[in-house]
Amino acid sequence: MGAMQEKAITIQKLFDLLKSGEDLTKKNPVFIEGWVRTNRSSKSIGFIEVNDGSCFKCIQVVYEDKLANFADATHYLTGACIAVRGEIVMTPEMKQPFEIHASEIILLGDVAEDYPLQKKRMSLEYLREIATMRPRTNTFNALYRVRSTLALAIHEFFQSNGFVYVHTPEITANDAEGAGQTFTVITDAKDPIKDFYGTKSSLTVSGQLHVEPFALAFGKVYTFGPTFRAEKSNTPRHASEFWMIEPEMAFADLQDDMDVMEASIKFSINYILEHCPDEMAFFDKFIAPGTIEKLNAVLAKPFVRMTYTEGIKILQEAVKNGHKFDYSKIEWGMDLQSEHERYLTEEVVKGPMFLTDYPKEIKAFYMKENADGKTVAAADCLVPGEGEIIGGSQREDNYDVLKAKMEKAGNDKGLEWYLNLRKWGGCVHSGFGIGFDRLLMYITGVANIRDTEPYPRTFGNLKY
Ligand code: 4AD
Ligand code: MG
Repeated sequence: MGAMQEKAITIQKLFDLLKSGEDLTKKNPVFIEGWVRTNRSSKSIGFIEVNDGSCFKCIQVVYEDKLANFADATHYLTGACIAVRGEIVMTPEMKQPFEIHASEIILLGDVAEDYPLQKKRMSLEYLREIATMRPRTNTFNALYRVRSTLALAIHEFFQSNGFVYVHTPEITANDAEGAGQTFTVITDAKDPIKDFYGTKSSLTVSGQLHVEPFALAFGKVYTFGPTFRAEKSNTPRHASEFWMIEPEMAFADLQDDMDVMEASIKFSINYILEHCPDEMAFFDKFIAPGTIEKLNAVLAKPFVRMTYTEGIKILQEAVKNGHKFDYSKIEWGMDLQSEHERYLTEEVVKGPMFLTDYPKEIKAFYMKENADGKTVAAADCLVPGEGEIIGGSQREDNYDVLKAKMEKAGNDKGLEWYLNLRKWGGCVHSGFGIGFDRLLMYITGVANIRDTEPYPRTFGNLKY
């Protein structure tokens, strides 16, 4: 409700009506509420760009000196919250199809002099320091709306393909990836083990282990929620809290797994191009030119599938031909660095790709061992500009093989329930994890994960 106990119409609603062919002037007089983006005036006339957050577009409010508070209105600065009553006037010859000629402008919330946003363009680094205010800028308004729509796209894709959404826990007693990157949960620092649960407890690094039992009951499931990793990686792609989508499918092998990865990424891209055209046009113009063309090219072709072993050969060739990597000792068995992944996807494939069948030593304990005894049925999806955005695998479904691996890794105690799935009606099954924030980076072209999350948590940084 507005100051005048009257429901405002949103800018989005006005554009929707226009699109459906309605005569907008029939809505006159209209009443809107929003924030001043810009305000310029001369002696007798002024123009305020108002954004109400309902959509990316602003609306132009024209006001004249016949307004009782004309002089005051000329001082309503960027950031001020206002309500406007007035008449819609169609302006087909202008950039904006209509504007509002104000009969009344009410100041709902003034801005103090220390308001941190300026009319001119500000750097992403500066805006990162003011996380509560950046949603009012074009860039972040667009970004967080696309984030919201992308979440919907994910649910739409999986639900319409018969996947059941499972809420896996955030607090767990195990380290799903076995990588030792968990945050411990404690209430009493004196005795973290005896503490609240009577067992070691941590924030989840992945919902996979908890979602697998549901796949073996529902067939197709997914989790989608926050994930936590105490990785001390200070890179543009690592956050200590990020969102992950983890689908899991019974009766699916690695090939099926990759088919679903590819379909879900393509669906998401299509969905955003269709539902967020203004935001995407903005990114394409101001943030990462060429993004829309890039995405259309991704949609047009199948993702290349390459084995790790082939990848290693290509990287070795590249070094032989003089390509400089920071880490140039390429040998089979090594964990690839981001620069290697990026070389493959950017220079060789020039698009999204799957790298498959990694050495078992460098991958998680739950992955299905291939017949060669050396590799596992894993697939990472790599994209230009970023490297890995999805990690997935077929799961080890052989009880004895998995038991031996878990004992060797020392994580068999407490995960008996996970192992038992292999002797209580198990089957071939596969799944993957999409880094939601990384997917958002890829689709928008935004280069730093700190900008895709409303309140990023990264190594050494917990502001807000
Ligand atoms: O490759 P990861 O570690 O795989 C898993 O967690 C599996 N349990 C998934 C599964 O099979 N169900 O992580 C999956 C994805 C990565 O490809 C990456 O996109 C993202 O999660 N990710 C991160 N994103 C931001 N910051 C971090 N620190 C990330 N670590 C992983
Ligand atoms: Mg991975």
